Amino acid sequence: MEIFLKDVQDGLNASPKYLQSKYFYDKKGDELFQQIMHSEDYYLTRCELEIFQQQSGKLAEFFKSKLGDFDVWELGAGDATKSSYLLKALKDQDVDFIYYPVDISANIIEWLQQNLPGKLPGLKLHGMQGEYLAMLNQSKTQSAKPKLVLFLGSNVGNIPLGETGAFLSSIRNCLNVHDILMIGMDLKKNPHIIRRAYNDRDGITSHFNLNLLERINRELGGDFCLDKFHHYPSYDPISGTCKSFLVSLEKQQVSIGAEKFDFEKNECIQTEVSQKYSVSQTSSLAKLSGFEPIGHFFDSRNYFLEAVWECV
Ligand code: AVI
Repeated sequence: MEIFLKDVQDGLNASPKYLQSKYFYDKKGDELFQQIMHSEDYYLTRCELEIFQQQSGKLAEFFKSKLGDFDVWELGAGDATKSSYLLKALKDQDVDFIYYPVDISANIIEWLQQNLPGKLPGLKLHGMQGEYLAMLNQSKTQSAKPKLVLFLGSNVGNIPLGETGAFLSSIRNCLNVHDILMIGMDLKKNPHIIRRAYNDRDGITSHFNLNLLERINRELGGDFCLDKFHHYPSYDPISGTCKSFLVSLEKQQVSIGAEKFDFEKNECIQTEVSQKYSVSQTSSLAKLSGFEPIGHFFDSRNYFLEAVWECV
């Protein structure tokens, strides 16, 4: 059975119901996420970009001093908008490196291979299309050089609660002692600001969330009526956990292929977790998964953190 269908069935048969957020990102979901990143209320992308625009020189110096000669791996490279600043700074400081962007999307890898060397003349790029850990595991056979691994965009926050430590440990196990992971993490802040980011005034996040049901209709032959579900984001400022839900506005039954799913009025499907951290929580997470925090780079408002962790 197709894995998407199985995951959806498992999630909707569970109590409470859930859907995995990795399924947000079909073609339409990618477009909506682009719009979210450009929206006024979603601060994360702009904060992280500011760190790269303003501190890449400093970051490059820091990595050079720690690693000497090294290669750069980026997990979930996307269009490399942010990392390009760092890659340029490394080139300007005469680091001789190969850039290995890892992405599940073959289109993205192809786009990077065609476009990035034009933007950064002389850049050596080797695209890796596949799952993060599978590709990172291959890194040992690619080169014996030390590695700087970038895991940006607060993507770590979307890992299901309770699985983050295991995931980071798996990354650690693909690396050698003294290799470095730089990880972009969204920090706890005024809870209104966080809730706004996931409930933007233009309704893009709502559309993004509901697109998951549309995708199930399109790809799995579902008959979700989108008007009968509402986007609901929550944020708990104590735990730092932001969650998105789809609320069933009435008692209803939905078919997906041959299977039927019952929804009570006001029953919720959890669709995403976006964890926010205190700086000390990020350090505990590092230590728990085999790293030592060795650097912290913040944006000017201290909303976002690039945490630099060394493998121990
Ligand atoms: C991709 N990820 C880091 C985003 C986040 O902030 O959790 C996904 C997103 N969900 C709603 N808005 C953005």
